[in-house]
Amino acid sequence: MFGVGLLGHGTVGSAFASLLPQHAARIERVTGLRPELSGVLTRSRGSFEEILAGSDLIVELIGGIEPARGYLLRALAAGRHVVTANKQLLSQYGEELWDAARANGVQLRFEGAVAGVVPVIRVLQEALAGATIDRVHGIVNGTTNFVLTEMARTGMTFAEALRQAQSLGYAEADPSEDVDGRDAAAKMAILARLAFDTPVHLDQVRYEGIEQIQTDDLEYARELGLHLKLIGTAERIGKGLSVRVHPAFLYPGHPLATVTGPFNAVTVESEAITEVTMSGPGAGGPQTASAVLGDVISAMIPPASTPPTSEMLAIVEDVVSAFYLHLEVADEPGVLAQVARVLADRGVSVKSVVQKGLGDQARLVMVVHPVLESQFTAAREDIAALAVLRAPPRAIRVLEEEFG
Ligand code: HSE
Repeated sequence: MFGVGLLGHGTVGSAFASLLPQHAARIERVTGLRPELSGVLTRSRGSFEEILAGSDLIVELIGGIEPARGYLLRALAAGRHVVTANKQLLSQYGEELWDAARANGVQLRFEGAVAGVVPVIRVLQEALAGATIDRVHGIVNGTTNFVLTEMARTGMTFAEALRQAQSLGYAEADPSEDVDGRDAAAKMAILARLAFDTPVHLDQVRYEGIEQIQTDDLEYARELGLHLKLIGTAERIGKGLSVRVHPAFLYPGHPLATVTGPFNAVTVESEAITEVTMSGPGAGGPQTASAVLGDVISAMIPPASTPPTSEMLAIVEDVVSAFYLHLEVADEPGVLAQVARVLADRGVSVKSVVQKGLGDQARLVMVVHPVLESQFTAAREDIAALAVLRAPPRAIRVLEEEFG
């Protein structure tokens, strides 16, 4: 057994406490050790000393500076690995904690501290460790991105959208840290620290929030085809480094322009790699808890393991997809009915259809609802065999997934 001591039982802490047992058996297959909650410290119950004594690793999800800082320094000094999602702490006392981890030969992991479940920390520390990074841009606060998205989408006021974000569990205990840009600034300090190998303190990050944004700013943005986002930037300027957070309009082609709702995204630019963008859920209890659990597993796995094959999932050949279907047909009575008949017989449901007359011929373009590919292929073959077809049918898959 591998004892995991949990400090904090708020939105993320309680999600982590229920996630760990769900994955314990799988983690045991992968690591050879079964992780178990060895104790939970909340404001009103639990003893830190007892939890520390019974744990191999401490997960800190209390947030804020004290008592989290004191607990983590004691855990590291006692030779325990630490996993935390505490961006305030890392952006102000990161150097002290990293030094303590190094001195004691233990791991300090913090994927959940920035951009929730988006694996930006390990990408900067591992995958991109060989690149010289010029700039990092990020949407790193889910609450403000949700608020701006909702204001733009529905015309809702700032206060109404913020209330919704709070009720969905995206916001900090004190949402002023979200809306005034300080939460994003803390995360940008951590990203800048890793991207540029330079100690960056939260006090060195200039930040503005979104409190001043009016609904009509978002209306104009829409008319102009621009997207308004709270953007964090960390960039090399000559021999210096600028780290800042402020609202900014983006042109539609920018990789961060289409990041909506509570999603976060981080773009890393470097001459060698051009540009890499990672995006995904940046806030929320279960989402952040899964990043925290990922760190726990990483801390348990000896370095350089080969990919485990403990699941042995079968490979699926036939998948469900929506399709665009393009048909050139004779323009005569009953043609549409014939096509519709084949689709109905094969269980393919039409979502939308457009027909254009072209002399004695017509172009029939439709999108069909998600269906097993084999079913769609059968329908397409039946349609191809119809005498009224003037050219082979053309089909393209349509991705319908929406996130956010
Ligand atoms: N309040 C934060 C956000 C949660 O909205 O992004 C994740 O740090």
